Amino acid sequence: MKILAIDDSALNLVIVKRILEEHLPDAQFETADSGTAGIELARIFQPDTILLDLQMPVMDGFETIRHLKKDPVTAFIPVIIITAASVASKDRVKALEMGADAFLQKPISSHELVAHIKVMLRIKKAEERLRHSHKLEAIGVLAGGVAHDFNNIMTIIKGYSTMLLMDTPPDNPNHESLQMIIDAVNRASDLTQSLLTFSRKQENIVLKEDLSELIRNFEKFINRIIGDNITLELISDKETLPVTVNRNMIEQMLMNLSINARDAMPEGGSLKISMTNALIDNKMASSLQLSLEPYVRIEVTDNGCGIPEEHQSKIFDPFFTTKEIGKGSGLGLSMVYGIVQQHNGTITVTSKPGSGTTFTIYLPANSSI
Ligand SMILES: Nc1ncnc2c1ncn2[C@@H]1O[C@H](COP(=O)(O)OP(=O)(O)OP(=O)(O)O)[C@@H](O)[C@H]1O
Ligand SMILES: [Mg+2]
Repeated sequence: MKILAIDDSALNLVIVKRILEEHLPDAQFETADSGTAGIELARIFQPDTILLDLQMPVMDGFETIRHLKKDPVTAFIPVIIITAASVASKDRVKALEMGADAFLQKPISSHELVAHIKVMLRIKKAEERLRHSHKLEAIGVLAGGVAHDFNNIMTIIKGYSTMLLMDTPPDNPNHESLQMIIDAVNRASDLTQSLLTFSRKQENIVLKEDLSELIRNFEKFINRIIGDNITLELISDKETLPVTVNRNMIEQMLMNLSINARDAMPEGGSLKISMTNALIDNKMASSLQLSLEPYVRIEVTDNGCGIPEEHQSKIFDPFFTTKEIGKGSGLGLSMVYGIVQQHNGTITVTSKPGSGTTFTIYLPANSSI
């Protein structure tokens, strides 16, 4: 967690620093002694919350917040205004209208400060998730449109080249070239199919499934994908709630996640897939944007190389890959994302470079898609 305090009083900055050191020892803390310096630092440091003094010489808190909120680089950083008790109600209203998220009065209560920072963090995370899902939605519409047209063109190329191939005897030198065209078109079709899955422009065959049975039936296949040097462990509740799913899609999802896990463990390791019923409490509902219904939780965990933090927000983007050219197209997780969305579920990732990665998926039980 990163916190920036902007205040012209060195004493106030020391007080905030002490509170944070005591109550949030893991937080990274930076300070600025003027609005101008604070704005500069906010751009570079990208804090999770800004604590802003209202009364400062030259550029006051109002002016500072106006700059912060109009700059797209800092606009989404929550701001807590620290005010003197004497600040008039109309000034509080003004600050709120300019984009402030909360107020604290001096002398600062340490518990209130920490509680407010935690709330700001929750808001920021929820907003980030929302922005990210809007972005993926927009990419999905674009990719889906292109893929749809591409698929039609590919069908024509494939149709004509297959006809030509049928008219070309195997000893004809053109036979091999035509076969290569058809192979390439098939590869292109696979790619567009992945994009269509991501953008949800796919036929929807739904069945009520017991997911633990589905996954047990799929075990042999996953074992083949991951090879001998990775051990597979399947864990599931005795009876998982039935979930309405498209079986092919769920298998595709497990396959893509397993392939990624395999690639993250070139020296071998373990892959754990668990499937359990999950009861959603209020906290989970708000942080994961789920409803208070029963869900089935699928967790796919590997102990591979992990994902660096700066990549974690990009991995579901189409064509994001860290693999060599020709090895990965960057569509595996986009498909997984599209599939989970299509089932009205959510997917999150937690990962620690060097220790491994867990993808957690929640699918609503007993609802139709
Ligand atoms: N389990 C994992 N461990 C470590 N990194 C992962 C894991 N899963 C995904 N990644 C990272 O996320 C990136 C995107 O994954 P994605 O499945 O979308 O594409 P890809 O595997 O690179 O290519 P494709 O799946 O299209 O063949 C990967 O290149 C890798 O950097
Ligand atoms: Mg992949």
